[in-house]
Amino acid sequence: MFTQRLDFKTTDLDTFPFPFTSGNYRYSNDLKRLSNINCIEVTPEYRLQVEAKRRLLQEQPHIRFQSFPHTLEMQWEVFEMLIDMAIDRYPQHFEVLKDGDNWTFKNHIFGDSDSFVFGDASTLPNEPLDYIGRHFHNDFVLMVHRDSNFYLEVGQVSYAALFSANWNKGMSFDEIHAPVPFVSRKGDELAERVRKFLLSIEPGKPWTRINWNLMANRWDVNYETMDVWEPQRSEITPESAGKLVRLRVEEQKFYRLPRSNAILFVLNTQFLPLEDLTLRQEWFDLTYSVLQDIPEPMAEYKGIAPFLPQSVEYLRRIDEERKSEHLK
Ligand code: HEM
Repeated sequence: MFTQRLDFKTTDLDTFPFPFTSGNYRYSNDLKRLSNINCIEVTPEYRLQVEAKRRLLQEQPHIRFQSFPHTLEMQWEVFEMLIDMAIDRYPQHFEVLKDGDNWTFKNHIFGDSDSFVFGDASTLPNEPLDYIGRHFHNDFVLMVHRDSNFYLEVGQVSYAALFSANWNKGMSFDEIHAPVPFVSRKGDELAERVRKFLLSIEPGKPWTRINWNLMANRWDVNYETMDVWEPQRSEITPESAGKLVRLRVEEQKFYRLPRSNAILFVLNTQFLPLEDLTLRQEWFDLTYSVLQDIPEPMAEYKGIAPFLPQSVEYLRRIDEERKSEHLK
């Protein structure tokens, strides 16, 4: 069993990765070069999100973290990269003391201090990526490059939208995306095009894209717990949608690792209740327009079909209220 407390939302709107640039959303190869290549962010919700992540990893360790035994070396590569980024950006919060391979990593926000031998996983409480990932609110996935494809060989996933390390371990990029109605505006199949694009990513030149979904009174859904969340989705009403339905946005980052040649997939997941959209009128208008125009296969795939009409009706009522206020 695991707990789902809706105990956080994004409060610093300037860092919320709002996903829509036009009033109608379709799938596309929407990767862009990442300008700030440091993926570590300490947001106002850092403590809450990391605490929730650690709780889930403790409650469902085998669903939330999976790896193949031969991945330890790559995990150390990521471990070092994340520590370097954390210290570079937030020297006041993170620190590492090195005496040869004897390292002590400190997280001053949580008051954590751990000593271990770099490169010797037996000196850590968890595998390297599972250990270091517990200091940041992101999800981390390692996709190994083989036979012109990428295979999911390590995953630490706590903010899942139809995703889990347990479910997806070992799958190729194509297998993972098989359930997605992944076609462009013009009807072109996108999976192969995107996979080929990923093959061209070079070390030191990461890429980014934004993915979005709506969540009905939760922040995490995976196939292993479908029996719990699936029936809850129909309980949303236009009256409750403002608080209970959240725009769930994933800022995704893709890094080619120079030593292992794997792709590190980093997710920064943020949540905004529909009622907070009115804080930025432009966001409200775009979201209202996009949600009225979702093609049925996309709504079904995203799992939002059972509460999409109620969410749109909630936004329509707010829109109407605002317009009648203006007429007064
Ligand atoms: C290489 C790392 C990647 C991993 C591990 C990954 C993983 C996933 C997973 C687990 C899902 C949910 C699949 C399901 O329903 O069972 C998904 C969905 C999706 N992925 Fe990826 N993905 C990756 C890269 C990409 C890239 C580069 C793109 C696009 C340029 C992309 C576009 C999508 C889209 C559009 C969906 C549907 C999401 C939605 O509509 O909510 N993915 N991905």
